[in-house]
Amino acid sequence: MGMLDGKTAMVTGAARGIGRSIAQELARCGADLAIADLDAAWLEETAASIKDAGRRVVCLSMDVGSSEDVTSAVGEAVKELGGLDIMVNNAGITKDGLLMRMSDADWDAVLNVNLRGAFLCTRAVARPMMKKKSGVIINIASIIGLIGNAGQCNYSASKAGVIALTKSSAKELASRNIRVNAIAPGFIQSKMTDALSDEVRASMLDAIPMKRFGTPEDVAQVVAFLASDASAYMTGQVLTVSGGMVM
Ligand code: NAI
Repeated sequence: MGMLDGKTAMVTGAARGIGRSIAQELARCGADLAIADLDAAWLEETAASIKDAGRRVVCLSMDVGSSEDVTSAVGEAVKELGGLDIMVNNAGITKDGLLMRMSDADWDAVLNVNLRGAFLCTRAVARPMMKKKSGVIINIASIIGLIGNAGQCNYSASKAGVIALTKSSAKELASRNIRVNAIAPGFIQSKMTDALSDEVRASMLDAIPMKRFGTPEDVAQVVAFLASDASAYMTGQVLTVSGGMVM
């Protein structure tokens, strides 16, 4: 028996990287899935592996920064899966640059996807979860939202915002039996981090006590824990998954 048998979950940014791993892990634990990304066609590979695990899957095109997209995608997920027990706000982007050179557009784009996207999705799932009197929301933040990083003012502010959103919504929704927690991953191997220079990668590795980069699966397993009843008495928390980089 899986720890998420009979549950339904939605994961944003599930076409690749950490989001794909999260969707696969939740399916492995027994959940049926709604997976979303900018283009539903990109979700094929993730969807195939969920079907292989014997679970149902619904693929959705959605820009998390668009209120209309979020409303219609969450509505469809609820309709197709018969409700939503778990929401994972994973979609995220970077547009790095030093503060003095950062354009208004790069600031707005990152805040729109990372922070506004998490807000829109949280608001959209809160209603069906409140009706059901249960639910779990998991926000993928970042250690950069805790400690900051030169060249990532927009990204760090968005992730610090996600952490604050997590705590405030946890306080608002706790009495409705909806738990909201965040994960702050450290350096996880993915397309996002592949883009960094060898020099940056070497200095990051040096700062990780466990002397290895994380894998998407390292994050996905903590998501499964937060999605399950194993964490039934936890809300408003930020779990750092960073090989000890932040402690
Ligand atoms: P990735 O770039 O490999 O995947 C992100 C996914 O989100 C892509 O499939 C992309 O199409 C989708 N996406 C982007 N904008 C979207 C939008 N507006 N609407 C819907 N989907 C959208 O990134 P990765 O590394 O898998 O990151 C996933 C999450 O984990 C992000 O929130 C990121 O900030 C966070 N994170 C990643 C870390 C890392 O080291 N890779 C470290 C800490 C946090």
